Amino acid sequence: MSKETYVKPFLKKQVSGTMNKFGSSLNLGYRDQIDGASIDAIASKYGSPVFIFSERAIRDRYREVYREFSSRYPRVRFSWSYKTNYLDAICSVFHQEGELAEVVSDFEYQKARRLGMPGSAIIYNGPFKPAESLRLAFSEGAMVNLDSFDEIYKAEGVAREMGRRANVGLRLNMDTGIHPQWTRFGLNLDSSAAMDAAKRIHQSQWLRLTGLHSHIGTFILDPKAYSVQIQKMIDFMKVLEKDFDANIEYLDLGGGFPSRNKLKGAYLPPEVSVPPISEYAEAISTTLLRNLAPNECPMVIFESGRALIDEAGYFVATIEGAKRLPDGSRSYIIDGGVNLLYTTNWYNHRVELDRPVEGSYENSTIFGPLCMNIDVVAENVSLPPLSRGHRLVLSPVGAYNVTQWMQFIRYRPAVVMVMEDGTVEQIRRAERLEDIVSLEFIPEKLKNLQPGDELKSHGAGV
Ligand SMILES: Cc1ncc(COP(=O)(O)O)c(C=O)c1O
Repeated sequence: MSKETYVKPFLKKQVSGTMNKFGSSLNLGYRDQIDGASIDAIASKYGSPVFIFSERAIRDRYREVYREFSSRYPRVRFSWSYKTNYLDAICSVFHQEGELAEVVSDFEYQKARRLGMPGSAIIYNGPFKPAESLRLAFSEGAMVNLDSFDEIYKAEGVAREMGRRANVGLRLNMDTGIHPQWTRFGLNLDSSAAMDAAKRIHQSQWLRLTGLHSHIGTFILDPKAYSVQIQKMIDFMKVLEKDFDANIEYLDLGGGFPSRNKLKGAYLPPEVSVPPISEYAEAISTTLLRNLAPNECPMVIFESGRALIDEAGYFVATIEGAKRLPDGSRSYIIDGGVNLLYTTNWYNHRVELDRPVEGSYENSTIFGPLCMNIDVVAENVSLPPLSRGHRLVLSPVGAYNVTQWMQFIRYRPAVVMVMEDGTVEQIRRAERLEDIVSLEFIPEKLKNLQPGDELKSHGAGV
């Protein structure tokens, strides 16, 4: 008599209405296309897994966010945060829309320059800027925001060597009610550190303070934190103008606006918990306009990353295996893992099927293909019975994944963009063996080692 496989009992939710208390549908959504482009056709042509970006979603979102701010305050500029996603095509869309480039390393600086951005359209941030890249940034007129006293001394040395005075900004950190505070970047405004740094710059014959920068954190769900930030920055600017006759040309508020992703542990869905961008624009602009005379409007810069790109990105993966775990629960193995989806650390991404599937829904675990226990892409996802070949669409994944992904035991996949005209363009091809080994060298002494030689010399394998 054959033994029957144990199937864990489960409760099936009866769908009596069309939506839950938050207004969302109770059924697992399915998505077979992005902006009219067939997901199956894309995965068949470019391979699975594959990242898919929507050009239209990027442009629409940028325009919406820009409009919310520019309709409230006259001098607003956005600067694309390269680290959020520095694929050339993605940056190009933002630059076409009018964004500057915000970079935090010499590599990113070079990437922005290679793309055609002039130095004067680059904001150079970050806690470590090599002297060579500071020299280049000063000579090309980039906006450089200094992070520490040591960096002030370094920048001063570089400007002295160049024989010309350099304009610099100062990065600040402060208590805005968001905890834990990001105090490791910049100089603290609530103590005397920021004032001491500003004084030091003022006393230098090689530096001129022309901007203030701060980035209070990321995925900030409280717009009021930005009112506190901008208020403190304006107050500081006014003191600098009065005491040091400084001319502060820009106030850079960094990024931090949230995307519509679901943070792990969050009870409410993002449609409910994430305030609309208009609330941030209102909080910031009201504080600005209340404090500034009409003739003193410094440029206000935003380096928004995730809020602009996250929802334009999708990750399509294919089911490669299904398994019942010993506790009776259902699990699936897909062909892309946490090495490609760094953000699974923080978010429960939305999971959609590429087609409707009949059958009983069960809470299931989605594992990636890595031979590592930590490779869990999603847990407790209510899924119908799926089998090899079914595809899953995870979103939003546009922010930070294609910069923080890791080439670990597998090739990184292709990235495509669905263009506004409906065509599909590859914007990064899948890696191949030669891409990875092209960086490696074998020392002469290690060449010509025949596999098995060592075993033979020990008397084995004969
Ligand atoms: C200086 C700076 N600006 C902008 C950003 C973009 O942040 P976000 O993606 O939260 O908007 C970051 C990210 O950490 C940052 O460090």
